[in-house]
Amino acid sequence: MPFPSTFLWGAATSSYQLEGATAADGAGPSIYEPYCKRPGATFMGHSGEVACDHYHRFRDDVGLMKQMGLRAYRFSVSWPRVMPEGVGRVNPAGLAFYDRLVDSLLAAKIEPWATLFHWDFPLALQHRGGWFNRDSAEWFADYAGVVVDKLSDRVGHWFTINEPQVFIKFGYGDGTVAPGLKLGLDEQVIACHHALLAHGRAVKVIRARAKTMPTVGWAVVGRVDYPMSETAPDIEAARRGMMEITEPQLWNNTWYGDPVVLGHYPEDGLKLFAADATKARPPIQPGDMELISQKIDFYGLNIYDGQQVRAGTDGKPEVVPFPPGHPQTAFRWFITPPCLRWGPRLLFERYKVPVYITENGMSNIDWVASDGAVHDPQRIDYTRRYLLALAQAIADGADIRGYFHWSLMDNFEWAAGYRERFGLIHVDFATLARTVKDSGWWYKTIIESNGASL
Ligand code: FCB
Repeated sequence: MPFPSTFLWGAATSSYQLEGATAADGAGPSIYEPYCKRPGATFMGHSGEVACDHYHRFRDDVGLMKQMGLRAYRFSVSWPRVMPEGVGRVNPAGLAFYDRLVDSLLAAKIEPWATLFHWDFPLALQHRGGWFNRDSAEWFADYAGVVVDKLSDRVGHWFTINEPQVFIKFGYGDGTVAPGLKLGLDEQVIACHHALLAHGRAVKVIRARAKTMPTVGWAVVGRVDYPMSETAPDIEAARRGMMEITEPQLWNNTWYGDPVVLGHYPEDGLKLFAADATKARPPIQPGDMELISQKIDFYGLNIYDGQQVRAGTDGKPEVVPFPPGHPQTAFRWFITPPCLRWGPRLLFERYKVPVYITENGMSNIDWVASDGAVHDPQRIDYTRRYLLALAQAIADGADIRGYFHWSLMDNFEWAAGYRERFGLIHVDFATLARTVKDSGWWYKTIIESNGASL
């Protein structure tokens, strides 16, 4: 049996991508409000203003999750919904939404896994510098306290931040997600340091204030290199590819994972970044690294794809390009099942913290067929291959405890708007009608057999 009997099967979403009702009941604006209005920022000017209207339809959505047999649901809390200015005043009506959501999940016997921050940063705090301001760590800790006080009698599993690689590098460096800034590496490294501090502060707050024993972790991008062959040199090349910082930019694993788990930034990155034209250095103050490296209970990995490498001359990782016609998703992301074996395996080997796959899935060109169903054999095949690879990682000895499919339902895919459909449930964005896709029903059988029927 590849999957342990305690293996957790779930699906994931995030607040801005599915809730809609962004201004309802006194919610404040997030950085996505102005960002989506920028000409050209998102596909056809789409925004999350309505999204799946999950804010009003969550009871039906939980009903579908129950029918699909989900055991766990990873959702995020919208910071500006709970605190419209980001700090100070709490919006009880906004907080009450999560109260209702958690209650209906529990009534359906679905375990709630709450993410405190999945990119919808309060606009009011962006005007005070966002993550660039060192106070952001305190702002986040205060907000975390408000949510934990309210929900921790029923929520036991917490994520601090989601994918700092994306909201820092793409949000502050490349400008392709909100707030859409194009700053140098030196400034990205500062914002990143503060986000890591915020993570550490939140871990402390959760542990200090949770009413039931919490498990705490985070969810990061797992940037994966996998070996072209199962030989020791190729495996070592994959390990190096994943763990070495060889370019002056923040799309990597160790700049984030090392401080959080090992308590220090990676030496190679420090050297390389300091030698960059911007002379990038994290603004470390006494006590910072200790705060950042609070013990976490699990390491969440969001993994969609990877690149194939082999050992080149002197063992250096060498990327082996895919042949023409290599399978791709609708988003044009390469389909690479071995990434779900080697990514968690090699990151578990480095950090020795139990792993959950907190996002994995694919965008597909789905529609409601004339028989009223949504047929998505591509998603079934993709997920099957990736889960078989994950089972191999478990057989290899990696401590992998669960899998959350991205996404529960089609939703606002950031810059791609509603063009990319990642859901196990189809959403008609004109009528907001939901239809469980074939893959959703298939996933139910996988959950019921604990992966044995893969
Ligand atoms: C991840 C994000 C998630 C979703 C998927 C497709 O980077 O965390 O919100 O957009 O990609």
